[in-house]
Amino acid sequence: MPGFRLEQGALVCDGVPLSAIAAAVGTPAHVYSGAVIDERYRALDRALAGVPHRLHYAIKANSTLGVVRRLRALGSQADVNSGGELEVALRAGFAPDQIVFTGVGKTRAELKRAIGAGVAAINAESPTEVDRIERLAAAQGVVARVAVRINPDIDAGGHRHISTGHHATKFGMSVADATRMLRDMARRPWLHIVGLHLHIGSQITRIDPFVRAAETLVALARSLADEGIRVEHLDLGGGLGIAYESGQEILAVEDYARAVIDATRETGLTVLVEPGRWIVGPAGVVVTEVVDLKSQADGSRFIVVDAGMTDLLRPALYDAWHRIEPVAPREGELIRADVVGPVCETSDTLGRDRRLPPVEVGDLLAVRDTGAYGAVMASNYNRRPTAVEVLVAEGAWRVVRRRQTVDDILQWDE
Ligand code: LLP
Repeated sequence: MPGFRLEQGALVCDGVPLSAIAAAVGTPAHVYSGAVIDERYRALDRALAGVPHRLHYAIKANSTLGVVRRLRALGSQADVNSGGELEVALRAGFAPDQIVFTGVGKTRAELKRAIGAGVAAINAESPTEVDRIERLAAAQGVVARVAVRINPDIDAGGHRHISTGHHATKFGMSVADATRMLRDMARRPWLHIVGLHLHIGSQITRIDPFVRAAETLVALARSLADEGIRVEHLDLGGGLGIAYESGQEILAVEDYARAVIDATRETGLTVLVEPGRWIVGPAGVVVTEVVDLKSQADGSRFIVVDAGMTDLLRPALYDAWHRIEPVAPREGELIRADVVGPVCETSDTLGRDRRLPPVEVGDLLAVRDTGAYGAVMASNYNRRPTAVEVLVAEGAWRVVRRRQTVDDILQWDE
């Protein structure tokens, strides 16, 4: 059975005990299930079978080469958000025409590289960016493939830090502004308009924002076609949420896909989606060791672990909730405690007021659903080296990114 589950009283990943991995590579450690990645990629691909589509995995969610290569092998294409992620995609073996490039504030160097490589689409966000793309394309003597990112002015819910489709955010352009820009782009020989793009936010758990977003793109594609401007694809971005809490209500992948298919099918256009979290989120855990237990006079208790906000920023940054459980649960009455990291910030709390089986110093805990926006958001704050990353696949585990050392971090200091 793929995934993370208790087998004979201990958590395993695809059958491999997490304690065995921790004993070999130390803690904190990110552990990924290859089987879960495969299963989820295939489920989404299958659900979208009713429409011509391409899955562009959002590399920002987890850009470790071993993970990205696995997605490529499954048939995925790629969505990148920076020059660094573009290099990851190319090094992972994606052909340039399998890569779409999004981002506010792409630099000249990044645009030049993307145009030169010949990516499938640069998702442009402003007239001045389009001017830059045109000049760089002309200078290289290549026609740039450009799509336009729309801001559909939809409030998709979710945490305000990750909601992107509302007019007050920095992302995309209004339909009216985009329409004017597209008319202008259509007259420029160094630009080939390939598509329309949007991404309304992340960890979305309701269907209506997705439906309204898709309908906005479809309506725009139709009105452009009436003027003789034809696009090849509609890129609906990512955003499909996952259940961080057991029993949390989320959108079924089939319902999401059905809505996408229904909204777009009649256009005959290829539909792109850019899933990140939904594919890799549940495929990862952070394994961490209990370093200390602190009880206070008022009865409150801290479980201090060796993973912190430098390994998993989501709780500190978004108040995000991740399940935390012992790797080998002990018998006994549940205790109530805050699970905290070692970083000198009060926000360095992985879980507040949790009920857990009794734990002792040296025990291992697993923080669940950290495969997306976990390792990629790590930092060296407090000069903490980034954690090791392990992929379990085909019945064995291997390190896909080694643990940093303090020497690694210090090598850049003059
Ligand atoms: N496409 C674009 C243009 C994006 O900006 C994003 C995510 C995605 C696709 C993938 O979205 P997903 O399917 O993963 O929701 N660090 C935050 C999430 C930030 C998402 C940024 N954009 C978190 O930990 O919740």
